[in-house]
Amino acid sequence: MAAIEKDFRRSVVYQIYVKSFCDSDGDGVGDLPGITGKLDYLARLGVDYLWLTPFYPSPQRDGGYDISDYRAVDPVYGTMDDFDELVAQAHKREIGIMLDMVLCHTSCDHEWFQRALAGDERYRAYYILRDGRGSSGPGDPGQPPTNWDCAFGGSAWKWEPRLGKWYLHLHDVSQPDLDWTNPEVREACADVVRFWKERGVDGFRFDVVNLISKPEVFEDDLSGQGRSLFADGPHVHEYLRELVARAGIDGMMTVGEMASTTLENCVRYTRPEDHELSMSFSFHHLKVDYAAGKKWELAEPDIGQLRSIFRTWQEGMQAGGGWNALFWDNHDQPRAVTRFGGRAGVGERGGSWERVGKMLAVCDFLMKGTPYVYQGDELGMVNPGYDSIEQFRDVESRNYYQIMLEMGKGPAEALHVVNERSRDNGRAPMQWSSAPAAGFTSGEPWIGIPASARLVNAEAEVGVEGSMFEFYRSLVKLRHASDVIATGEVRFLDAGEEAPKVIAYERTLGDERLVVACSFADAPCRLADLGVEKYEVVLGNYDDAPAPGALRPYEAVVWRS
Ligand code: NOJ
Repeated sequence: MAAIEKDFRRSVVYQIYVKSFCDSDGDGVGDLPGITGKLDYLARLGVDYLWLTPFYPSPQRDGGYDISDYRAVDPVYGTMDDFDELVAQAHKREIGIMLDMVLCHTSCDHEWFQRALAGDERYRAYYILRDGRGSSGPGDPGQPPTNWDCAFGGSAWKWEPRLGKWYLHLHDVSQPDLDWTNPEVREACADVVRFWKERGVDGFRFDVVNLISKPEVFEDDLSGQGRSLFADGPHVHEYLRELVARAGIDGMMTVGEMASTTLENCVRYTRPEDHELSMSFSFHHLKVDYAAGKKWELAEPDIGQLRSIFRTWQEGMQAGGGWNALFWDNHDQPRAVTRFGGRAGVGERGGSWERVGKMLAVCDFLMKGTPYVYQGDELGMVNPGYDSIEQFRDVESRNYYQIMLEMGKGPAEALHVVNERSRDNGRAPMQWSSAPAAGFTSGEPWIGIPASARLVNAEAEVGVEGSMFEFYRSLVKLRHASDVIATGEVRFLDAGEEAPKVIAYERTLGDERLVVACSFADAPCRLADLGVEKYEVVLGNYDDAPAPGALRPYEAVVWRS
């Protein structure tokens, strides 16, 4: 069946964390047939592409981003026939399938690493192996080669006696980094992409792809650069261009996840003339509630900073001819409704959580770029709020809980931080109904069901006027229909001193002008003159019309000239 090729500027992508979307066989884990069974729901929402997180064989030490075989389906998620069926059924509904390519590292269970462990020189050269500092010779580990930290806490190096070397792992210890300076590694990775392309998929998401080119010289991080030290490395553009050309995916729908990146690099990753990717994810806007830039230290979201980051990225990518992926949530993030909505609890229908969810959706969907809806965004899902650390499954959350205890935090405080920051916030099962296990599984779910499922669920929202689901559906339609949103210019506006928590911007195309204003404040505020007196209101998240020159708590309004 022909691949789905849609204009990415008009498209909306829906991200599925396969493990938590829908379980068809009662083993408590989401699977591919589960997704196929929900295609009509997704078609009703109107999305164009589905990005599926990894469903390949994996020991699951990092939620499937630790892959032991790139070309197969883990039996817990189904079979290759199930995959083919999902693609065929999605295509029937004009929905494309995008796969997650995790090519920066493998699992240590991958055959390549296993062969390296067995002493095969060819495969030892697939990984980044170094001698220890101060080692007296073979067999003596000495100290880690550099002081680099991995993403999930602790050193990025592990001594492996069977290799007689330290290996680099920028993520979990079970995820050794591939050595992209080795041409054979680059060819092997291109081959993986080609394999899935030939199987009929329509696009790709590349995991931490800006970390594939490591620094030329391995030196200690003395200035506290952290991940920026490995990001956007010296050969990254060359490797990406080569990958895209070899796999034959230039012009396909592609997105790169760019950790600790820069605007300049993202312009280069996504300018069509550079033949790298269609668009990039950057994360600066999701660090505005990190105290001193530290994920595990809480702060209130700084909306002034959020505005300035959006402005930089929106106007900067536009000026450079690049293209942004727009998103609030994914499987690595806490739910934005909780995060930016004053920790909005779910009290009743029509409560603050709904207003916040709709405001966030407007803010995102009307910017310049391609919006990504993460499963459950369209329902207004919030952080689950687990009661104990045992309920968390994520390696990062569990590691940092321990680190926080070691640093002197009490268990209650550490649990509170984990509840705010854990990646499991985004990994709780999709809420299909108010039935036990939220209609996600007939068995025991692999991770706990949030209490909010009784109110926030698809059954209660699909087809219900004014619901979050129907609001998202209308935004998807708007995106498809509107040239000014898809391709118009974007420019940020000053909402004035009395609106410090308002993000306002305009989109223009020819004579048409849209003005968007979104309040992140829990109190009313006055707006500066945005030049909209004679405009009509085309969209809002309150039932009644906005008052001139003012916004109510968490209000979002779109005016058209
Ligand atoms: C980014 C993925 O989104 C995350 O879930 C994973 O842990 C890391 N990359 C490592 O693959």
